[in-house]
Amino acid sequence: MAPEQASAVDPATTTRQRAADSEIATAATTKAPAPRQAERATAKTSAPATPSAARAAAAKPQAPATRSLEAIIRAQEEIFIDRQPESARMATAATSALSGGVVSSWQISRPQPVWLSHGSGSKLYDVDGNEYVDLHGGYGVSLAGHGHPAIVKAVQAQVARGTHFAQPTEAALVAATELSRRFGLPQWRFCNSGTEATMDAVHLMRAITGRDLIIKVEGCYHGHHDSVQVSVCPDEDEDQRGPAERPNSAPSSTGIPKAITDLTLVVGFNDLAAVQRRLEENPGQVAGMILEPIMMNSGIIVPEPGYLQGLKDLLHSHGALLTFDEVKTGLTAGPGGATGYTGVTPDIVCLAKAIGGGLAVAAIGGTAEVMDHVANGDYEQVGTFNGNPLAMAACRAMLEDVATQDAYQRLERLRQLAVTGLEREIERNGLDAHVVSVGAKGCVVFSAKPVRDFRDFLSIRDSYSHAHWLFQHNGGVFLPPWGKAEQWLISVQHDDADIEKFVANFATFAAAVGR
Ligand SMILES: Cc1ncc(COP(=O)(O)O)c(C=O)c1O
Repeated sequence: MAPEQASAVDPATTTRQRAADSEIATAATTKAPAPRQAERATAKTSAPATPSAARAAAAKPQAPATRSLEAIIRAQEEIFIDRQPESARMATAATSALSGGVVSSWQISRPQPVWLSHGSGSKLYDVDGNEYVDLHGGYGVSLAGHGHPAIVKAVQAQVARGTHFAQPTEAALVAATELSRRFGLPQWRFCNSGTEATMDAVHLMRAITGRDLIIKVEGCYHGHHDSVQVSVCPDEDEDQRGPAERPNSAPSSTGIPKAITDLTLVVGFNDLAAVQRRLEENPGQVAGMILEPIMMNSGIIVPEPGYLQGLKDLLHSHGALLTFDEVKTGLTAGPGGATGYTGVTPDIVCLAKAIGGGLAVAAIGGTAEVMDHVANGDYEQVGTFNGNPLAMAACRAMLEDVATQDAYQRLERLRQLAVTGLEREIERNGLDAHVVSVGAKGCVVFSAKPVRDFRDFLSIRDSYSHAHWLFQHNGGVFLPPWGKAEQWLISVQHDDADIEKFVANFATFAAAVGR
C-alpha cells in the first residue's frame, strides 16, 4: 500500500471510533503523540514495502512472540486498502460534496469506508468488484438478504401504484395485526426510523404519567434524539462515567443541553437494585424506563433470569412504564423479537431495522391502556411519511412471506453451524474468547469471562475484534465494522457455504493471533 493513500482517506473520528481507535493505536505504539498520528507514523515506518509483501506477510502467520497483534492488524489493513483502490478514490472524491465523505458518521470505518456497488441474496459487492458474504446486514436491517423475491415483488407492485399518499392503506392494517400477534401488544403506529420510534416511546411515557424523568441503561443506544443520547458510550474517564452502581448522565453527543440529559437517570444493565434506588430517590417523578432487552450495541449482553420481569414489576409498583427498544432484536432474535424470546411483554415495544425488509420502516406498539393515549389524542403521534404505502408493502411482505416459521428454523440451523465452528476454533487456538448468539445475531466476545454489563464490555480489548473484522473482510466476509460493539446478522438467504466461509476465515484469524 502507499501510506499516503491511507491518510488521503483518513476519516474523521466518531465517538464509537474514538473508543476503538485509541486502544488499537495504543497497541500499535507505546509513545503515541495522538492516536491517529501514531497509526499513520507506525504504518509509514514498519509497513511491508509492497502490497504483495503485505499479503505474503499476512498469509504466513508467525508465532505470537515474533508477530504481535499490532503487526497483524497493520498487515491486514494494508491488504484491505490494496484490495480497494476505487473505494479509496471515491472516499477522497466524496469529501467535496458529502460532509466527511459519507452519508452518516457511522459509515466512517477504519482503515477506510467501503463503497458498495450492489447486493444480491446473501452477498455484497464493492465498487472494486470484490464479493462478500454479507454478515454486516446494514447494522441489523438485512434479515431478508438482498433482492428477496417477495420484497421485490411487493415493492415493484406498489411503486407503480403510488409511493406516498399520507392516508392509510390496507398493508398497514395487515402489518399491524401481524405485529400484534407476534409481540402480544394490541395496537401499533408506524414511523420511519428507530430514533423516531424511541422518541415517541419516551414522549408517550412522559405524556401518560405526567412525569419528566426517565431511566436508561448505560451502553444502550436508542437513536440520536436528546433524551436518550446519554451514557451510550461514555468516556473511559472514571470522572466522566461515574461509579458503576450510579453512573453519571453523560451526554453522548454535542448539542444536547444539560437540562435535558439531567432528566435521564442512568443505571447498569442487569442491576435491579440500581433501578429500585433511582425510583425511591425520585418518588412520583419517573415516567418510565427504556432499554434494549438484549443489549446489542455492546456486543450482545443477555438479561439475567428474572431481570426483565423484575423491572416490569418494580416500575409498575412505582406507577412507571417499561419500554423495550427492539429496534435491533425485533424479528432478528426470533419471530416475536426479545419479547417473544424472553417471555416478558413490556408496556411499549419499539421496532425498526429488519421489519422493513430493507426499506425505512419503524413501529411502536403498546398495551391498550398506553395506546389509548394515542387514539384519544393525548399524545399526537405524527409524521408525513409514517406508514407510507411503499414502506408498508415491504413490511407486509417481510412479515407474511419472509420472516416465516420455516425461515426461523433455517436461521437456527445456520446459527448453530456458526457457533459450533467458532467455538471449535476458539478452543483449538486457545483464545480468551466466547461466542454469544441470539436468533439470527451473534458475536465473538474476546474475553473468557461472561459480560454482564457495559463496564464488563468496556474492559474487553477491541484490537482483537478489529483484527477479526479485517481478516473476515479480506477473506470475503463483511462483518459490521464496529469491532466489539456490533454483531453478525444472518439473513434468510444465507446458506451453509456462507457460514463455512465465515468459520474458515475465523480459523485463519485464530491461528494468527492464538497461542
Ligand atoms: C437499539 C437501537 N435503537 C434505536 C436505534 C436508532 O435507529 P435508527 O438508526 O433507525 O434511527 C438503533 C440504531 O442502531 C439501535 O441499535
